[in-house]
Amino acid sequence: MQGAEEKDGEVAEGSHFIQRLWGTKMPPSHHGEYPMKTYSRSVERLIEGIATSDGAGVKLTRVLTGKLQRRLDPFLMLDAFGSDDPDDYLAGFPDHPHRGFETITYMLAGRMRHRDSAGHEGLLENGGMQWMTAGRGVIHSELPEQQDGVMEGFQLWLNLPAQDKMAAPWYRDFAAAEIPGYTTPEGVTVRVLAGESGGVAGAVQRAGTAPLYLDLHLPAGTQFTAGLPATHNAFAYVYRGAVDIAGTAVETQRMAILDNAPESESVTINAPKAARLILVAGKPLNEPIVQYGPFVMNTQEEIQQAVADFRSGRLA
Ligand code: CO
Repeated sequence: MQGAEEKDGEVAEGSHFIQRLWGTKMPPSHHGEYPMKTYSRSVERLIEGIATSDGAGVKLTRVLTGKLQRRLDPFLMLDAFGSDDPDDYLAGFPDHPHRGFETITYMLAGRMRHRDSAGHEGLLENGGMQWMTAGRGVIHSELPEQQDGVMEGFQLWLNLPAQDKMAAPWYRDFAAAEIPGYTTPEGVTVRVLAGESGGVAGAVQRAGTAPLYLDLHLPAGTQFTAGLPATHNAFAYVYRGAVDIAGTAVETQRMAILDNAPESESVTINAPKAARLILVAGKPLNEPIVQYGPFVMNTQEEIQQAVADFRSGRLA
C-alpha cells in the first residue's frame, strides 16, 4: 500500500455514552467501595472504512485513516483488502518507496509477491505475515495473486520512534506455521502476530512501540480477554461475524476504537455468534507526525529530504 490520500466520508457511529461513563469504574457497591478488579475497556467509537483505491488501482477499504493517526498513535494506517474479482487488485502496487515506519501485511487468503530494492523477494501466502521496517528507505513492489479465487488481508502501518526512522531497513516473511498461537479451553484460537498473549510470545517484538497484534477466532458463545497495558492505544476490527465489547455490538467490517481508561488492563470480547477479528494495540510515541504519501517523518524538512533522496536515487 502506498498511502494515497483517502477521500472524505469517514463514518462515525454511535458513541456509547453510558458505556464510556461506566466503562472502567463500575458504580460503587452498596458498601460504597470499588471492587478490586480490572474492567474491560469499552468502545469509544465505531468506524466504518472508506472504499478507496491505491497503487495501480487496487480497490481496498481504508479503515484507519489519516484523521485517526493522532488518536491511534503509533498506528498510521490500516487497509483491509479482499475480493474475489482479480480486476480489483491484480495490478497491485508497482515499485514505490517508503521511509520512516513499518508495514505489516497479513494475508488471510491469497498471496502477495514482494520484491525490494535490496534484492529481497518473498511470497506471502494464506495465513502468512510480512513485517517490513522501512527505516531510512525501501523501494518495493507488492503484487497480489489470487489463490482459489480469493484474496483477502490487511496492511497495517506502524510508526517508528524518531530515533529509529533512519535505521537500516529490515524485513521478514513469516509463513502461517511460523506464527505462534494457542487455543483456549473454550476453543478460541489466538494467533499472536506481535507482542504477547496468554504467555505466548508473538512472531515479532518491538521495543519502542510495544505492539500487540492478535488474530482471534471465536466460536459462537465464547469469550476472550486480552491483557492490554492501560497506556496503549487499541482497536479491534471485525472481519467475520460480530462481537460484543462491554455492551457495544461491533459488526463485520467495523473498527472499534477502545477507550483509554487508566484503571483498565484488559479488553473482553464476547461472540454471541462465531466471529473473527484482529486486535491491535501499541504504546503511543507522542511525537509529531508528518506524512507525505509513503513517507512518514517528524518534520516537513525531513519529508523534503525524503523526496529529494528518492528523486536523486539515494533513498534506497
Ligand atoms: Co508498500
